[in-house]
Amino acid sequence: MQLSRLVQSLPPYHFAETQKKLAARQAAGVDVINLSMGDPDLPAPSAVIERLCQAAHDPENHRYPEYRGLRALHEAFVAWFQRRFRVTLTPEEETLPLLGSKEGLAYVAAAVLNPGDVALVPDPNYTVYVTGTTSTGAHPYLLPLRESHDYLPDLESIPSSVLQQARLLWLNYPNNPTAACADQAFFERAVAFARRHDLLIVHDMAYAEVYFEQRPPSILEIPGAREVAVELHSLSKTYNMAGFRVGWLVGNREVVDAVGRLKSNIDSGMFRPIQHAAIAALQLPDSWIQERNAVYRRRRDLLVAGCNSLGLRARQTQAGLYVWAAVPKGFKARDFASWLFDQTGVLLTPGSNFGVAGEGYLRISMTAPEERIETALQRMKAALRELPRP
Ligand SMILES: Cc1ncc(COP(=O)(O)O)c(C=O)c1O
Repeated sequence: MQLSRLVQSLPPYHFAETQKKLAARQAAGVDVINLSMGDPDLPAPSAVIERLCQAAHDPENHRYPEYRGLRALHEAFVAWFQRRFRVTLTPEEETLPLLGSKEGLAYVAAAVLNPGDVALVPDPNYTVYVTGTTSTGAHPYLLPLRESHDYLPDLESIPSSVLQQARLLWLNYPNNPTAACADQAFFERAVAFARRHDLLIVHDMAYAEVYFEQRPPSILEIPGAREVAVELHSLSKTYNMAGFRVGWLVGNREVVDAVGRLKSNIDSGMFRPIQHAAIAALQLPDSWIQERNAVYRRRRDLLVAGCNSLGLRARQTQAGLYVWAAVPKGFKARDFASWLFDQTGVLLTPGSNFGVAGEGYLRISMTAPEERIETALQRMKAALRELPRP
């Protein structure tokens, strides 16, 4: 079978590989502590489950759903956005439900990029920005995110020859994997930059509601942003609903419409009971988020303090699900993570999985209970005493 050049060019998705490795160790009887994925271990809200079950009993909901989602779902997104960011969106024109934000990233790339175009991609990154770009025949131009620059891209350093071909700028704050946040001043600069160079900004805000100090801003809070930007949101991390596959695209109406057109030619919309469950989630009081974030805050405190005491220098995570910690000097991230897994059964993700600029770091997920995090840190402490010299 001759497969397409696209499929042949795709790397294996690194978490699919990780899952294989993990299953093999578990089958061998190892008590694995998986801190490698941003897959919330806490349950979805009970009001959401109840609404899902209730709606699933109605046979009317077993039919094909609306391609672009129920009007009531659009309205719930709009009300949530208004409450959370003080930004007013038009329900049908400026919001589009997605089967998770991951598919939205690929659809946005397909909606605006042509072969030979350039997309500006942060490095390290959520890898879908790269595959979304290359699958259209466009080329990624990597923008290193450096600790010394608070993990914000240096937009002014991009050569003008690159900017002439660039159509799209990917941004992601709160950031995966570095756990960095961007403030409004950065978004103002980014919006002005996009206007100057005729770029579309695609801001991935999948971690909008997991925060510990300040609430992260939306790029759409910047006046005029919706002329040059779209933003992706998700219920996966926001309401512990990763398996439900609910995301949405908001912002520039031309791009929202283009993605809707593409999607309706390829998929058939979201199962209606899930849409009703999503509406129930979006209507939960803010106290639900605050209580859930208090659980993550305790885990973050344990992990950041634990990593620093083990010599794995970690910055304080202000938002998102990860701690970004430095690998001991002289080790490659992949080798260290692999050694650690073999010694302790604790699975972390090497920063290099997210791009060359992630080398030297580990991404540690907070999606395990405090007792498991404590056990992981104890095992790591014991193992690090035996760490071979590089
Ligand atoms: C930065 C980022 N964006 C998007 C996603 C995809 O989320 P979902 O498709 O579950 O909405 C993830 C998932 O881990 C992520 O880390």
